[in-house]
Amino acid sequence: SEPGPLAGKRVLITAGGTREPLDPVRFLGNRSSGKQGIALARAAAAAGAEVELIAAHIEVAIPDGIKSSSVETALDLREATLEAAARSDVVIMAAAVADFRPAEVTDSKIKKRDDAADPVITLVRNPDILVEVVQQRGTDGTPLIVGFAAETGDDRGNVLDYALSKLERKGCDLLVLNRVGRHLVFGQDETEITVLARSGAEPQSHRGSKDSAAATVIERIVAELSG
Ligand code: C5P
Repeated sequence: SEPGPLAGKRVLITAGGTREPLDPVRFLGNRSSGKQGIALARAAAAAGAEVELIAAHIEVAIPDGIKSSSVETALDLREATLEAAARSDVVIMAAAVADFRPAEVTDSKIKKRDDAADPVITLVRNPDILVEVVQQRGTDGTPLIVGFAAETGDDRGNVLDYALSKLERKGCDLLVLNRVGRHLVFGQDETEITVLARSGAEPQSHRGSKDSAAATVIERIVAELSG
């Protein structure tokens, strides 16, 4: 790999949005484009890391030279992530994972019938992959684990408090907070993030391109790794 502050480090990045099937043609999904995760993969590679990307549904191309695999559902993502995390120095969970999936997936297309009641979709909880990656971590603190928190709140103070409690609850090392909405962040090239650290480092805010946000996150990771 390239020389740089992450030379020799294996960095696992999840990107995009999971899709939870209802039947062979329909799914429940989300608005994640994968742009931020791909920007992180590029920034980590530029810093010399050996990057592995696990892509759920993404709307952008994976850059040449990045090792990647594709997954569809949260359960697929969980399996691939836990396996790859065990051999990684850093794990960045940028994927938007469905919190719930349909309890049943029908083998054939759900039909509309005039004589039947409207269908009801029952959802069940998906596992929290980030929490499981934290639980799987060795006693030496490897890998360093970075979570994302997409929040729709508009009260800055409350959003920050909420994110700090999420950082505690999930047990990851860094939490990247970003404000999202129907026309905000998802699919856009610009973003606004705040990086929170368990190490006690001051929260760091950044507004700009997803590429420059990725550089901010990678710099923070380099600082955390060097203690
Ligand atoms: O709890 P919340 O969904 O806001 O947490 C977001 C973070 O947790 C992201 O890093 C996301 O990739 C991860 N996550 C996960 N498994 C889930 C839900 C979220 O790993 N089921």
